[in-house]
Amino acid sequence: MKGQILYQKAKKLIPGGTQLLSKRPEMFLPKQWPSYYTQAHGVEVVDLDGNVYTDMSVMGIGACVLGYADPEVDAAVKAAVDRGSTCTLNAPEEVELAELLCELHPWAQMVRYARAGGEAMSMAVRIARAHTRRDKVAFCGYHGWADWYLAANLGQDDALDGHLMPGLDPAGVPRGLRGTALPFHYNRIDQLKAIVDANRDNLAAIVMEPQRGQPPEPGFLQAVRDIATEISAVLIFDEVTTGFRMTTGGIHLLLGVNPDIAVFAKAMANGYAMAAVIGTEEVMQAAQSTFISSTNWTERIGPAAALATIRKHRRENVAEHLIHIGNLVTAGWRQAAEEAGLKLHTSGLPSLDHFSLEYEDELALTTLFTQIMLEKGYLAWNQFKPSFAHQEHHVKEYLDAVTDTFAILAEAIAKGDVASRLKGPVARRGFYRLA
Ligand SMILES: Cc1ncc(COP(=O)(O)O)c(C=O)c1O
Repeated sequence: MKGQILYQKAKKLIPGGTQLLSKRPEMFLPKQWPSYYTQAHGVEVVDLDGNVYTDMSVMGIGACVLGYADPEVDAAVKAAVDRGSTCTLNAPEEVELAELLCELHPWAQMVRYARAGGEAMSMAVRIARAHTRRDKVAFCGYHGWADWYLAANLGQDDALDGHLMPGLDPAGVPRGLRGTALPFHYNRIDQLKAIVDANRDNLAAIVMEPQRGQPPEPGFLQAVRDIATEISAVLIFDEVTTGFRMTTGGIHLLLGVNPDIAVFAKAMANGYAMAAVIGTEEVMQAAQSTFISSTNWTERIGPAAALATIRKHRRENVAEHLIHIGNLVTAGWRQAAEEAGLKLHTSGLPSLDHFSLEYEDELALTTLFTQIMLEKGYLAWNQFKPSFAHQEHHVKEYLDAVTDTFAILAEAIAKGDVASRLKGPVARRGFYRLA
Protein backbone atom coordinates (compact mmCIF):
# COMPACT_ATOMS: atom_id res chain seq x y z
CA MET A 1 0.00 0.00 0.00
CA LYS A 2 1.62 3.23 -1.24
CA GLY A 3 0.07 5.32 1.53
CA GLN A 4 1.65 3.23 4.26
CA ILE A 5 5.05 3.28 2.55
CA LEU A 6 4.88 7.07 2.29
CA TYR A 7 3.80 7.34 5.93
CA GLN A 8 6.83 5.32 7.07
CA LYS A 9 9.01 7.79 5.15
CA ALA A 10 7.07 10.73 6.62
CA LYS A 11 7.79 9.55 10.16
CA LYS A 12 11.51 9.86 9.42
CA LEU A 13 11.14 13.38 7.97
CA ILE A 14 8.27 14.83 9.99
CA PRO A 15 8.32 14.40 13.78
CA GLY A 16 5.00 12.81 14.71
CA GLY A 17 4.33 11.94 11.05
CA THR A 18 1.56 14.50 10.45
CA GLN A 19 0.77 18.10 11.38
CA LEU A 20 -2.44 17.16 13.22
CA LEU A 21 -2.59 14.41 15.83
CA SER A 22 -6.08 13.47 14.65
CA LYS A 23 -4.79 12.65 11.16
CA ARG A 24 -2.33 10.04 12.34
CA PRO A 25 -3.12 6.73 10.66
CA GLU A 26 -2.49 5.05 14.04
CA MET A 27 -5.66 6.71 15.32
CA PHE A 28 -7.76 4.81 12.80
CA LEU A 29 -6.09 1.64 11.51
CA PRO A 30 -2.35 1.26 12.11
CA LYS A 31 -0.40 -0.16 9.16
CA GLN A 32 -3.55 -0.38 7.02
CA TRP A 33 -5.05 3.11 6.81
CA PRO A 34 -4.67 4.61 3.30
CA SER A 35 -3.09 7.65 5.03
CA TYR A 36 -2.78 9.93 1.97
CA TYR A 37 -5.16 11.06 -0.72
CA THR A 38 -4.73 12.15 -4.29
CA GLN A 39 -8.23 13.54 -4.74
CA ALA A 40 -11.31 14.28 -2.65
CA HIS A 41 -14.64 15.43 -4.11
CA GLY A 42 -18.02 15.45 -2.40
CA VAL A 43 -17.79 12.46 -0.05
CA GLU A 44 -15.37 10.50 -2.26
CA VAL A 45 -11.70 10.09 -1.50
CA VAL A 46 -9.07 8.51 -3.79
CA ASP A 47 -5.94 7.10 -2.16
CA LEU A 48 -2.43 6.80 -3.61
CA ASP A 49 -3.23 3.37 -5.07
CA GLY A 50 -6.31 4.68 -6.87
CA ASN A 51 -8.77 3.06 -4.43
CA VAL A 52 -11.96 5.06 -4.05
CA TYR A 53 -13.61 5.36 -0.64
CA THR A 54 -16.77 7.00 0.63
CA ASP A 55 -15.88 9.12 3.64
CA MET A 56 -18.29 8.32 6.46
CA SER A 57 -15.80 9.38 9.13
CA VAL A 58 -14.64 12.84 10.08
CA MET A 59 -14.59 14.79 6.77
CA GLY A 60 -11.26 16.58 7.14
CA ILE A 61 -11.58 16.55 10.95
CA GLY A 62 -14.76 18.56 10.77
CA ALA A 63 -13.49 21.17 8.33
CA CYS A 64 -15.39 20.16 5.20
CA VAL A 65 -18.93 20.97 6.20
CA LEU A 66 -20.12 21.31 2.60
CA GLY A 67 -18.19 18.28 1.33
CA TYR A 68 -14.79 18.03 -0.33
CA ALA A 69 -13.90 20.45 -3.15
CA ASP A 70 -17.26 22.22 -2.99
CA PRO A 71 -17.70 23.78 -6.46
CA GLU A 72 -19.06 27.09 -5.18
CA VAL A 73 -16.32 27.62 -2.61
CA ASP A 74 -13.63 26.46 -5.00
CA ALA A 75 -14.88 28.87 -7.69
CA ALA A 76 -14.58 31.73 -5.19
CA VAL A 77 -11.07 30.58 -4.27
CA LYS A 78 -10.00 30.26 -7.91
CA ALA A 79 -11.34 33.75 -8.60
CA ALA A 80 -9.35 35.06 -5.60
CA VAL A 81 -6.21 33.36 -6.94
CA ASP A 82 -6.77 34.80 -10.41
CA ARG A 83 -7.12 38.31 -8.98
CA GLY A 84 -3.97 37.95 -6.85
CA SER A 85 -4.14 36.09 -3.58
CA THR A 86 -1.99 38.59 -1.72
CA CYS A 87 -0.73 42.12 -2.24
CA THR A 88 0.80 45.15 -0.53
CA LEU A 89 -2.76 46.40 -0.09
CA ASN A 90 -5.42 44.62 1.94
CA ALA A 91 -8.14 42.29 0.67
CA PRO A 92 -11.60 43.91 0.79
CA GLU A 93 -13.13 40.49 1.53
CA GLU A 94 -11.88 40.95 5.13
CA VAL A 95 -14.34 43.76 5.69
CA GLU A 96 -17.19 41.99 3.92
CA LEU A 97 -16.64 38.91 6.05
CA ALA A 98 -16.49 40.95 9.26
CA GLU A 99 -19.86 42.48 8.39
CA LEU A 100 -21.34 39.06 7.68
CA LEU A 101 -20.03 37.52 10.93
CA CYS A 102 -21.38 40.45 12.96
CA GLU A 103 -24.72 40.21 11.16
CA LEU A 104 -24.94 36.51 12.08
CA HIS A 105 -23.89 37.26 15.69
CA PRO A 106 -25.57 40.58 16.51
CA TRP A 107 -23.92 40.78 19.96
CA ALA A 108 -20.49 41.15 18.24
CA GLN A 109 -19.20 44.33 16.65
CA MET A 110 -15.57 43.60 15.75
CA VAL A 111 -13.54 40.81 14.17
CA ARG A 112 -9.88 39.78 13.84
CA TYR A 113 -8.61 36.94 11.69
CA ALA A 114 -6.09 34.14 11.91
CA ARG A 115 -5.74 30.97 9.84
CA ALA A 116 -6.09 28.12 12.38
CA GLY A 117 -8.23 27.31 15.39
CA GLY A 118 -5.52 26.99 18.03
CA GLU A 119 -3.86 30.16 16.78
CA ALA A 120 -7.16 32.06 16.93
CA MET A 121 -7.76 30.76 20.46
CA SER A 122 -4.35 32.12 21.49
CA MET A 123 -5.32 35.45 19.98
CA ALA A 124 -8.60 35.44 21.92
CA VAL A 125 -6.84 34.69 25.21
CA ARG A 126 -4.25 37.41 24.53
CA ILE A 127 -7.02 39.93 23.87
CA ALA A 128 -8.77 38.88 27.09
CA ARG A 129 -5.55 39.24 29.07
CA ALA A 130 -4.83 42.61 27.46
CA HIS A 131 -8.37 43.82 28.13
CA THR A 132 -8.45 42.78 31.79
CA ARG A 133 -4.72 43.22 32.54
CA ARG A 134 -4.98 39.88 34.34
CA ASP A 135 -3.15 36.58 33.78
CA LYS A 136 -5.20 33.53 34.68
CA VAL A 137 -7.64 31.58 32.56
CA ALA A 138 -10.34 29.17 33.72
CA PHE A 139 -11.18 26.73 30.96
CA CYS A 140 -13.07 23.61 30.08
CA GLY A 141 -12.46 21.37 27.04
CA TYR A 142 -9.80 21.17 24.32
CA HIS A 143 -8.49 24.36 22.74
CA GLY A 144 -5.37 23.49 20.73
CA TRP A 145 -1.62 23.28 21.17
CA ALA A 146 -0.64 26.70 22.54
CA ASP A 147 1.28 27.52 25.72
CA TRP A 148 -1.61 29.28 27.47
CA TYR A 149 -3.57 26.01 27.34
CA LEU A 150 -0.92 23.33 27.86
CA ALA A 151 0.23 25.28 30.92
CA ALA A 152 -2.62 23.47 32.71
CA ASN A 153 -0.52 20.30 32.61
CA LEU A 154 2.61 21.89 34.13
CA GLY A 155 1.71 21.26 37.74
CA GLN A 156 -0.38 18.19 37.36
CA ASP A 157 0.18 16.19 34.21
CA ASP A 158 -3.36 14.87 34.03
CA ALA A 159 -5.18 18.20 34.41
CA LEU A 160 -6.23 18.10 30.77
CA ASP A 161 -7.45 14.51 30.92
CA GLY A 162 -11.20 14.44 30.57
CA HIS A 163 -10.99 17.49 28.29
CA LEU A 164 -11.23 15.56 25.00
CA MET A 165 -7.52 14.94 24.48
CA PRO A 166 -5.83 13.06 27.33
CA GLY A 167 -2.10 12.87 27.99
CA LEU A 168 -0.99 16.16 26.39
CA ASP A 169 2.62 16.74 27.35
CA PRO A 170 3.57 20.35 28.16
CA ALA A 171 7.31 19.87 27.47
CA GLY A 172 8.64 23.18 26.16
CA VAL A 173 5.96 25.25 27.88
CA PRO A 174 7.68 27.66 30.29
CA ARG A 175 7.41 26.49 33.92
CA GLY A 176 6.62 30.08 34.82
CA LEU A 177 3.14 29.60 33.34
CA ARG A 178 2.31 27.05 35.99
CA GLY A 179 -0.97 27.87 37.70
CA THR A 180 -2.19 30.18 34.94
CA ALA A 181 -4.59 27.74 33.20
CA LEU A 182 -7.18 26.33 35.58
CA PRO A 183 -9.47 23.54 34.37
CA PHE A 184 -13.08 22.90 35.30
CA HIS A 185 -15.46 20.31 33.86
CA TYR A 186 -18.51 21.02 31.73
CA ASN A 187 -21.71 21.40 33.76
CA ARG A 188 -19.68 21.71 37.00
CA ILE A 189 -20.46 25.26 38.04
CA ASP A 190 -19.19 24.36 41.52
CA GLN A 191 -15.70 23.77 40.08
CA LEU A 192 -15.75 27.10 38.25
CA LYS A 193 -16.93 28.84 41.41
CA ALA A 194 -14.06 27.32 43.37
CA ILE A 195 -11.56 28.63 40.78
CA VAL A 196 -13.18 32.05 40.91
CA ASP A 197 -13.12 32.12 44.72
CA ALA A 198 -9.40 31.41 44.75
CA ASN A 199 -8.48 33.71 41.82
CA ARG A 200 -11.19 36.38 41.76
CA ASP A 201 -8.94 39.33 40.99
CA ASN A 202 -6.64 37.64 38.52
CA LEU A 203 -8.98 35.81 36.16
CA ALA A 204 -8.75 37.23 32.64
CA ALA A 205 -11.04 34.77 30.89
CA ILE A 206 -13.38 31.83 31.10
CA VAL A 207 -12.85 29.69 28.01
CA MET A 208 -15.14 26.87 26.92
CA GLU A 209 -17.13 25.31 24.12
CA PRO A 210 -20.76 26.27 24.64
CA GLN A 211 -21.72 22.61 24.11
CA ARG A 212 -19.97 19.48 22.90
CA GLY A 213 -20.43 15.96 24.23
CA GLN A 214 -23.27 16.64 26.62
CA PRO A 215 -26.01 19.28 26.63
CA PRO A 216 -25.78 22.09 29.17
CA GLU A 217 -27.77 21.53 32.32
CA PRO A 218 -30.55 24.10 32.75
CA GLY A 219 -29.01 27.38 33.87
CA PHE A 220 -25.38 26.25 33.53
CA LEU A 221 -24.35 28.53 30.67
CA GLN A 222 -26.21 31.50 32.12
CA ALA A 223 -24.47 30.90 35.46
CA VAL A 224 -21.08 30.93 33.67
CA ARG A 225 -22.11 34.14 31.90
CA ASP A 226 -23.17 35.74 35.19
CA ILE A 227 -19.89 34.80 36.89
CA ALA A 228 -17.84 36.25 34.02
CA THR A 229 -19.85 39.47 34.15
CA GLU A 230 -19.62 39.69 37.94
CA ILE A 231 -15.84 39.37 38.07
CA SER A 232 -15.29 41.27 34.78
CA ALA A 233 -13.58 38.31 33.11
CA VAL A 234 -13.95 37.79 29.36
CA LEU A 235 -16.22 34.89 28.41
CA ILE A 236 -14.72 33.17 25.35
CA PHE A 237 -16.78 30.59 23.49
CA ASP A 238 -14.62 28.26 21.40
CA GLU A 239 -16.73 27.47 18.33
CA VAL A 240 -13.83 26.04 16.33
CA THR A 241 -15.56 22.68 16.04
CA THR A 242 -19.19 23.47 16.96
CA GLY A 243 -19.51 26.51 14.68
CA PHE A 244 -21.56 26.03 11.49
CA ARG A 245 -22.70 22.56 12.50
CA MET A 246 -26.01 23.25 14.25
CA THR A 247 -26.84 26.61 12.68
CA THR A 248 -25.19 29.16 10.36
CA GLY A 249 -22.80 30.55 12.96
CA GLY A 250 -22.06 29.53 16.53
CA ILE A 251 -24.04 26.94 18.44
CA HIS A 252 -24.38 29.55 21.20
CA LEU A 253 -26.98 31.28 19.01
CA LEU A 254 -29.25 28.32 19.79
CA LEU A 255 -28.38 28.22 23.49
CA GLY A 256 -29.40 31.78 24.30
CA VAL A 257 -26.19 32.90 26.02
CA ASN A 258 -23.78 35.34 24.40
CA PRO A 259 -20.04 35.42 25.09
CA ASP A 260 -17.74 38.45 24.90
CA ILE A 261 -15.62 36.67 22.28
CA ALA A 262 -16.37 33.70 20.00
CA VAL A 263 -13.77 31.89 17.91
CA PHE A 264 -14.38 30.13 14.60
CA ALA A 265 -12.15 28.08 12.28
CA LYS A 266 -12.57 24.66 10.60
CA ALA A 267 -16.04 24.64 8.99
CA MET A 268 -16.22 28.39 8.41
CA ALA A 269 -14.22 28.07 5.17
CA ASN A 270 -14.91 24.45 4.20
CA GLY A 271 -11.32 23.33 4.67
CA TYR A 272 -9.46 26.44 3.51
CA ALA A 273 -7.22 27.95 6.17
CA MET A 274 -9.32 30.55 7.95
CA ALA A 275 -10.17 31.51 11.51
CA ALA A 276 -11.99 34.40 13.10
CA VAL A 277 -12.13 35.94 16.56
CA ILE A 278 -15.32 37.95 16.91
CA GLY A 279 -16.30 40.02 19.93
CA THR A 280 -17.84 43.05 21.51
CA GLU A 281 -16.24 46.34 20.59
CA GLU A 282 -15.22 47.00 24.18
CA VAL A 283 -13.22 43.78 24.49
CA MET A 284 -11.92 43.58 20.91
CA GLN A 285 -10.44 47.07 21.05
CA ALA A 286 -7.86 45.58 23.43
CA ALA A 287 -6.35 43.93 20.35
CA GLN A 288 -4.91 47.39 19.72
CA SER A 289 -3.23 47.55 23.11
CA THR A 290 -1.11 44.46 22.46
CA PHE A 291 0.82 43.32 19.37
CA ILE A 292 -1.18 40.83 17.29
CA SER A 293 -0.08 40.81 13.64
CA SER A 294 0.93 38.32 10.93
CA THR A 295 1.58 38.46 7.17
CA ASN A 296 -0.42 35.39 6.17
CA TRP A 297 -3.46 36.56 8.13
CA THR A 298 -3.91 39.09 5.32
CA GLU A 299 -4.09 36.79 2.32
CA ARG A 300 -7.29 36.67 0.30
CA ILE A 301 -8.10 32.97 -0.10
CA GLY A 302 -9.28 32.40 3.49
CA PRO A 303 -11.82 35.25 3.57
CA ALA A 304 -13.00 34.48 0.01
CA ALA A 305 -13.56 30.83 0.95
CA ALA A 306 -15.29 31.80 4.20
CA LEU A 307 -17.67 34.21 2.44
CA ALA A 308 -18.62 31.56 -0.14
CA THR A 309 -18.98 28.84 2.52
CA ILE A 310 -21.12 30.90 4.88
CA ARG A 311 -23.35 32.24 2.09
CA LYS A 312 -24.02 28.76 0.76
CA HIS A 313 -24.47 27.46 4.31
CA ARG A 314 -27.15 30.05 5.01
CA ARG A 315 -28.87 29.87 1.60
CA GLU A 316 -29.09 26.06 1.53
CA ASN A 317 -29.92 25.66 5.23
CA VAL A 318 -26.93 23.35 5.53
CA ALA A 319 -27.22 22.93 9.30
CA GLU A 320 -30.66 21.36 8.95
CA HIS A 321 -29.23 18.87 6.45
CA LEU A 322 -26.29 18.01 8.73
CA ILE A 323 -28.62 17.38 11.65
CA HIS A 324 -30.93 15.23 9.51
CA ILE A 325 -28.08 13.10 8.11
CA GLY A 326 -26.43 12.85 11.53
CA ASN A 327 -29.67 11.71 13.13
CA LEU A 328 -30.15 9.05 10.43
CA VAL A 329 -26.66 7.70 11.05
CA THR A 330 -27.04 7.67 14.84
CA ALA A 331 -30.39 5.85 14.59
CA GLY A 332 -28.85 3.43 12.08
CA TRP A 333 -25.89 2.63 14.38
CA ARG A 334 -28.31 1.90 17.20
CA GLN A 335 -30.54 -0.30 15.07
CA ALA A 336 -27.62 -2.22 13.56
CA ALA A 337 -26.17 -2.77 17.05
CA GLU A 338 -29.50 -3.98 18.37
CA GLU A 339 -29.89 -6.41 15.47
CA ALA A 340 -26.37 -7.74 16.04
CA GLY A 341 -26.80 -7.85 19.83
CA LEU A 342 -23.92 -5.39 20.36
CA LYS A 343 -23.71 -3.08 23.36
CA LEU A 344 -23.33 0.37 21.83
CA HIS A 345 -23.64 3.86 23.24
CA THR A 346 -24.04 6.97 21.11
CA SER A 347 -23.30 10.53 22.17
CA GLY A 348 -22.60 14.02 20.87
CA LEU A 349 -24.45 16.59 18.85
CA PRO A 350 -26.49 15.17 15.95
CA SER A 351 -24.04 16.79 13.53
CA LEU A 352 -20.95 15.60 15.46
CA ASP A 353 -21.96 12.11 16.49
CA HIS A 354 -20.00 9.30 17.95
CA PHE A 355 -20.48 5.72 19.15
CA SER A 356 -18.67 3.59 21.64
CA LEU A 357 -18.81 -0.18 21.83
CA GLU A 358 -19.19 -0.98 25.47
CA TYR A 359 -16.68 -3.80 25.81
CA GLU A 360 -13.34 -4.08 27.55
CA ASP A 361 -11.51 -4.42 24.24
CA GLU A 362 -13.41 -1.48 22.75
CA LEU A 363 -10.33 -0.17 20.92
CA ALA A 364 -9.68 -3.51 19.23
CA LEU A 365 -13.34 -3.77 18.25
CA THR A 366 -13.39 -0.27 16.80
CA THR A 367 -10.18 -1.07 14.91
CA LEU A 368 -11.83 -4.17 13.49
CA PHE A 369 -14.86 -2.07 12.53
CA THR A 370 -12.61 0.35 10.62
CA GLN A 371 -10.72 -2.53 8.97
CA ILE A 372 -13.85 -4.28 7.70
CA MET A 373 -15.48 -1.04 6.59
CA LEU A 374 -12.33 -0.07 4.68
CA GLU A 375 -12.51 -3.38 2.82
CA LYS A 376 -16.10 -2.47 1.93
CA GLY A 377 -14.97 0.90 0.50
CA TYR A 378 -15.55 3.22 3.47
CA LEU A 379 -13.41 5.51 5.54
CA ALA A 380 -15.25 4.78 8.77
CA TRP A 381 -14.56 5.25 12.45
CA ASN A 382 -16.56 5.61 15.63
CA GLN A 383 -17.21 9.26 14.80
CA PHE A 384 -19.23 10.70 11.97
CA LYS A 385 -19.17 14.34 10.93
CA PRO A 386 -21.85 14.79 8.29
CA SER A 387 -21.45 17.21 5.40
CA PHE A 388 -23.83 18.80 2.92
CA ALA A 389 -22.50 16.35 0.32
CA HIS A 390 -23.79 13.33 2.28
CA GLN A 391 -27.10 12.24 0.81
CA GLU A 392 -29.63 9.76 2.15
CA HIS A 393 -28.47 7.11 -0.33
CA HIS A 394 -24.92 7.35 1.09
CA VAL A 395 -26.34 6.80 4.56
CA LYS A 396 -28.46 3.84 3.45
CA GLU A 397 -25.55 2.10 1.67
CA TYR A 398 -23.24 2.83 4.60
CA LEU A 399 -25.72 1.51 7.15
CA ASP A 400 -26.11 -1.72 5.14
CA ALA A 401 -22.33 -2.11 5.42
CA VAL A 402 -22.43 -1.24 9.14
CA THR A 403 -25.15 -3.85 9.71
CA ASP A 404 -22.96 -6.54 8.12
CA THR A 405 -19.90 -5.33 10.01
CA PHE A 406 -21.61 -5.20 13.40
CA ALA A 407 -22.78 -8.80 12.83
CA ILE A 408 -19.14 -9.79 12.24
CA LEU A 409 -18.06 -7.93 15.40
CA ALA A 410 -20.74 -9.75 17.40
CA GLU A 411 -19.51 -13.06 16.01
CA ALA A 412 -15.89 -12.16 16.87
CA ILE A 413 -16.93 -11.25 20.43
CA ALA A 414 -18.84 -14.52 20.78
CA LYS A 415 -15.88 -16.54 19.49
CA GLY A 416 -13.34 -14.47 21.44
CA ASP A 417 -11.22 -13.93 18.32
CA VAL A 418 -11.35 -10.15 17.81
CA ALA A 419 -7.55 -9.80 18.02
CA SER A 420 -6.81 -12.56 15.53
CA ARG A 421 -9.11 -10.98 12.94
CA LEU A 422 -7.03 -7.79 12.95
CA LYS A 423 -4.47 -7.55 10.14
CA GLY A 424 -2.44 -4.92 11.99
CA PRO A 425 -2.04 -3.38 15.44
CA VAL A 426 -4.91 -1.99 17.48
CA ALA A 427 -5.57 1.73 17.00
CA ARG A 428 -4.21 4.16 19.60
CA ARG A 429 -5.87 7.32 20.79
CA GLY A 430 -4.59 10.35 22.59
CA PHE A 431 -1.16 11.93 22.58
CA TYR A 432 2.02 9.83 22.57
CA ARG A 433 5.39 9.79 20.90
CA LEU A 434 5.63 7.72 17.72
CA ALA A 435 8.44 5.21 17.44
C1 LIG B 1 -12.77 23.09 20.32
C2 LIG B 1 -11.48 23.21 19.56
N1 LIG B 1 -10.69 24.27 19.77
C3 LIG B 1 -9.53 24.42 19.12
C4 LIG B 1 -9.10 23.48 18.22
C5 LIG B 1 -7.79 23.66 17.51
O1 LIG B 1 -8.04 24.06 16.20
P1 LIG B 1 -6.91 23.81 15.07
O2 LIG B 1 -6.71 22.34 14.97
O3 LIG B 1 -7.52 24.43 13.82
O4 LIG B 1 -5.68 24.55 15.51
C6 LIG B 1 -9.89 22.35 17.97
C7 LIG B 1 -9.45 21.32 17.03
O5 LIG B 1 -9.91 20.22 16.99
C8 LIG B 1 -11.11 22.21 18.67
O6 LIG B 1 -11.90 21.14 18.49
